[in-house]
Amino acid sequence: MAGTGDIHLRDNALLRVKDLNVRFPVSGGRVVQAVSGISFDIMKGETLGLVGESGCGKSTTGRAILQLPKPNSGEVVFDGVDLTELSPNELRRQRTALQMIFQDPISSLNPRRRIADVVAEPLRVWGPSDRREQQLKVEAMLEAVGLDPAAKNRRPHEFSGGQCQRISIARALVLEPKLIICDEPVSALDVSVQAQILNLLEDLKVQYELTLVFVAHDLAVVKNISDRVAVMYLGKICEVADPDELYVRPAHPYTELLLGSSPVPDPNHPLDREMVAGGELPSPTNPPSGCRYRTRCERADEQCAVLEPQLRQVREGHFVACHHPLVDVPVSLGETRVAVG
Ligand SMILES: Nc1ncnc2c1ncn2[C@@H]1O[C@H](COP(=O)(O)OP(=O)(O)OP(=O)(O)O)[C@@H](O)[C@H]1O
Ligand code: SF4
Ligand SMILES: [Mg+2]
Repeated sequence: MAGTGDIHLRDNALLRVKDLNVRFPVSGGRVVQAVSGISFDIMKGETLGLVGESGCGKSTTGRAILQLPKPNSGEVVFDGVDLTELSPNELRRQRTALQMIFQDPISSLNPRRRIADVVAEPLRVWGPSDRREQQLKVEAMLEAVGLDPAAKNRRPHEFSGGQCQRISIARALVLEPKLIICDEPVSALDVSVQAQILNLLEDLKVQYELTLVFVAHDLAVVKNISDRVAVMYLGKICEVADPDELYVRPAHPYTELLLGSSPVPDPNHPLDREMVAGGELPSPTNPPSGCRYRTRCERADEQCAVLEPQLRQVREGHFVACHHPLVDVPVSLGETRVAVG
């Protein structure tokens, strides 16, 4: 089983993504390599934070899990079923167990519909056929996300951004999914509201036994909500660790840079290309050979230009893809292939 490119993923994971590739053709015959051979898994009840600067492939990864669109290659095994192999009908049925929450709650809600209908929409296809039962379910969901069910006949524009995100969460929850991909769910909200939504997600996670993928620019947000954090750079995962470990002992130069770039985490000013020091983000249509981070890395040498670093374990549960990591690699762990890659 072990060998170059082989990765030991846990058999009992709820979600197992293996060697996922997503490419987008763009003008001039070029191809954006948005996600390049990433692998990771998530156990039931776990929250995986996915962090990295703009354009590194976080949202594409989230959408590829849902097969929106289908990835160019790779496996997405959810609850034992490889979603990439399903027919459109089978996929639609499976997808009821996987939901996504987006960054901009207001634009993701249809302004012309009453919020009761917005939340009930997934039930029309997959829920109980009885309308009364559907309504009761909608009211219970609104209550669960902290909204007054009596407001169910109002339309989205009558609610604040935070309340709209609560409505989106209610819609995502109404089919009782197992996994929710939260794509920067608080980035567009006022700082004062962000903590409320994060607390709500944490409460709902326990109440509904959810598993979460939590995408964010902001390292502080990811730290607080995640059981593990995966750092992405230019379509690849470069480090994975428990947040406490990652923040105290980053092993990848890019993670160190991200931490240094965010001394006072401010979710209103997410990391972007301008804020991150250490040079320009290379084009995803023509990523550097070897290690993709090498054009910005002070530790880069010839090896980094010719050999792509594979994730390896530097401490229990802490993996890094770097030839010259910032921490010592114990000999006993250095050659270990990884559970997340
Ligand atoms: N439909 C598309 N067509 C062409 N290129 C795309 C498409 N969707 C994404 N990309 C490109 O793929 C790369 C990854 O984009 P993605 O949206 O996944 O990044 P991200 O990490 O979510 O960024 P952000 O933090 O800004 O949301 C970027 O270079 C982006 O421009
Ligand atoms: S592999 Fe080389 S270039 Fe890449 S992060 Fe490590 S030291 Fe830097
Ligand atoms: Mg995104």
